[in-house]
Amino acid sequence: MLQMEKTKTNDWLAKAEQSVLFTANRPNMVIERGEGMYLWDMEGKRYLDFVGGWAVASLGHSPKVLADALTRQAATLVHASPGFHNQPMIAFAELLTRISCMDKVFFGSSGAEANESAIKLARKHGAVHLDGAYEIIAISGGFHGRTLATMSASGKPQWESLFAPKVDGFKHVPINDLDACFAAVTNKTCAIMLELVQGEGGVHSVSESYLYGLRKICDMYGMLLIVDEIQTGMGRTGKLFAYEHYGIEPDVLTVGKGIGGGFPLSAMLTKAKYDLFEPGDQGGTYTGAPLAMAAGLAVVGELLDRNLAENADQQGRYLKGRLQLLASRFPVSGIRGKGLLLAFDVPEGRAAELAAAALQEGLLINALGASTIRLVPPLIVTKEHIDEMLAILTRVLSSFK
Ligand SMILES: Cc1ncc(COP(=O)(O)O)c(C=O)c1O
Repeated sequence: MLQMEKTKTNDWLAKAEQSVLFTANRPNMVIERGEGMYLWDMEGKRYLDFVGGWAVASLGHSPKVLADALTRQAATLVHASPGFHNQPMIAFAELLTRISCMDKVFFGSSGAEANESAIKLARKHGAVHLDGAYEIIAISGGFHGRTLATMSASGKPQWESLFAPKVDGFKHVPINDLDACFAAVTNKTCAIMLELVQGEGGVHSVSESYLYGLRKICDMYGMLLIVDEIQTGMGRTGKLFAYEHYGIEPDVLTVGKGIGGGFPLSAMLTKAKYDLFEPGDQGGTYTGAPLAMAAGLAVVGELLDRNLAENADQQGRYLKGRLQLLASRFPVSGIRGKGLLLAFDVPEGRAAELAAAALQEGLLINALGASTIRLVPPLIVTKEHIDEMLAILTRVLSSFK
């Protein structure tokens, strides 16, 4: 094994510049380890994490239950083949169908992959039941991933012409505008796809009447309602799945991020009547791989045992209330979101500056666009962590007055 010499941060940053393909501006630190609500960089500086690896670290950083499950499974069976059944896959699929309104599960490794599956299933449904319909209506401002099809499904204005030509068959309509959606339906439409709280798009929720209307439209035309819960699922919004806030059931549900607690894992779930794929239609080398399944079983088991959805609801309410108080003293507005998927606005163009200043003070918060800060801490967050976070945020905001 190569023994890497541990050098100072700057040396590692220089190596990164030489060998890591540039895709993002990253701050000048190197994260070395994590535990619970905190991360540490190579210099030993500690950061209170209210980003949670982009809503991924549902159990916090390096949870023992995940480490133990991975160690146990790695010693038993890491990977067999997607061509064979394995016990952790069957047990995990069974668990997910028990805790959701769905009957069948397909596993992937990333959110985009789960959404690609959902898009394929919708097109298969169109081919089998809707006379070849293939178009999917999606929502402006929505985010569904970075593969070509999921980029095309996303309603991100900056992606309009990026990597053209786009994958054909997606129409975008404004959020919470039922008439616009109704008007976009044609005999080519096979599904409507959306997030119930747009995560990357600025933390905007769909209204109850809107979702109820979408459900009706889908029922009327036999189209699939695809709900992307990659970000909102697994307790994030204060319920296990965000659709539970609305009292409707989707036909297809995608989950990712928090389901693996940091281990790359995602799933597409659907009802038994949409079990439509034939051999060769869908698959993947890592679908249902035992190591990932053991990770998912451990993470979701722990989420359920500790009722972390309930904690997300309670702590989210506390955090939201405390942010309202901040808004009376600082230029903070538009506090919104559900559970522990929250956001607020700062003056135009200053979100990145605020996040960078917080980082200097040992707090991780996420700048979303020019003027929005998103807070998506691990679901294990306590009132004490929130108070610690608010003390740092208050200090940082004081220099913004
Ligand atoms: C709602 C939603 N869908 C899909 C994705 C894509 O997930 P991944 O980056 O794991 O492919 C994301 C990622 O942020 C997301 O928030």
